[in-house]
Amino acid sequence: MKHYKKRIELVENYLGRLDLKKEILDYYSGRNILVTGGAGAIGSNLIIALSKLVGKDGKIIVLDNLSAIKLKDPFNVTPLPNIMFVLGDVRSDVDLKRVFKEDPNMVFHLAAFFANQNSIDYPEVSAEVDVIGLIKVLEYARLAKVDRFVYASSGCAIYGSYPKLPLKEEFISMHLTTPYQINKMTGEMYCNFYYHHYELPIVNCRFFNSYGPGEVPGQYRNVIPNFIYWAMKGMSLPITGTGEETRDFTYVLDLVQGLIKAGYYKEAIGENFNLASGKEVKILDLAEMINKATGNSKPIYFMERRKWDTKPRLLASIEKAKKLVDYRPLVEFEEGLRNNIEWFRDNWKKIEAFADFPPGMSSAVRGFAPNMNQDS
Ligand SMILES: NC(=O)c1ccc[n+]([C@@H]2O[C@H](COP(=O)([O-])OP(=O)(O)OC[C@H]3O[C@@H](n4cnc5c(N)ncnc54)[C@H](O)[C@@H]3O)[C@@H](O)[C@H]2O)c1
Repeated sequence: MKHYKKRIELVENYLGRLDLKKEILDYYSGRNILVTGGAGAIGSNLIIALSKLVGKDGKIIVLDNLSAIKLKDPFNVTPLPNIMFVLGDVRSDVDLKRVFKEDPNMVFHLAAFFANQNSIDYPEVSAEVDVIGLIKVLEYARLAKVDRFVYASSGCAIYGSYPKLPLKEEFISMHLTTPYQINKMTGEMYCNFYYHHYELPIVNCRFFNSYGPGEVPGQYRNVIPNFIYWAMKGMSLPITGTGEETRDFTYVLDLVQGLIKAGYYKEAIGENFNLASGKEVKILDLAEMINKATGNSKPIYFMERRKWDTKPRLLASIEKAKKLVDYRPLVEFEEGLRNNIEWFRDNWKKIEAFADFPPGMSSAVRGFAPNMNQDS
């Protein structure tokens, strides 16, 4: 229970700092909201915030098949009285009928087959979940006449490899490098179709590299949880590239802020915009910061860049989100990273049990398997 208490406190403190205006609080109060993928890294934070906003007269319905979670344990779903967890699949009519029976009037669609390398290994499942699953949820949402459908799109899926920085929404690349990116872009197009054809009030939010409490390391997961995990185990951190590459890392509660606001502002309807920090962090600096914070003295080492990883730098413009939905990231990278490491320390036993690195040539370590024996 301590684990949940701290997660709730983190979200409550964030909402306190955010100080949402009364119109937004009134808008959310008493709502029934469906969050697909609500047991995941971002969704598990979003549902705590939404649970607070809807209050005791509202309800958060989580639909998640726990496919991204080893041992299929929904430990990331905080057991709050107004959160209903439904174990089910976005591709299943039976499961969708079940959750839409709860009368949601908003949908946050976060369920996805995460992410790039996973989609290369399993392109068909990736398309089934990310495209067919999305179409099904859109269809049920349309029939239920929800008044907002917020879609979790991805910055890495829209802008291709070598666009001008900072990445602005009007630029689109057809040169995508993984099935995941293709599916996410296709997803935006389907959302736009439902908006134009049926006037479903959709919003496409393009997330950039999320990090923070709630993301368990694993072979298909993001660099920050994996680096923290390896550093805490006293292993050398592997950099695939030169380390000069940059990413726009976004604290998960800042993404949650963007989602809450995307669900409220009318100006967001039919639109797409970046949700990011608007700042770049070099991968080498990231590795050094994590080693320092965890007291890991093992040397960093360098591997060949993965073939699909063609983005030397990522930096998003957040001007459009600022203008349309008053998005303003609150958490600096150092603070977010501290919170993330603290979450690892508080939940180390669970994280060790749930970290998903299968034996053998797992995709997170392909090419540098000897490193796996460096546990101290
Ligand atoms: N994390 C990031 O950096 C990032 C960046 C860009 C976009 N996004 C998008 O944001 C969303 C959330 O990302 P996340 O990091 O929380 O990922 P996640 O993998 O932690 O969460 C996704 C959740 O969806 C669930 N899921 C997968 N297939 C499902 C299915 N068929 N039916 C029902 N549930 C299913 C998984 O069990 C998981 O809990 C995803 O749509 C992702 O594509 C994430």
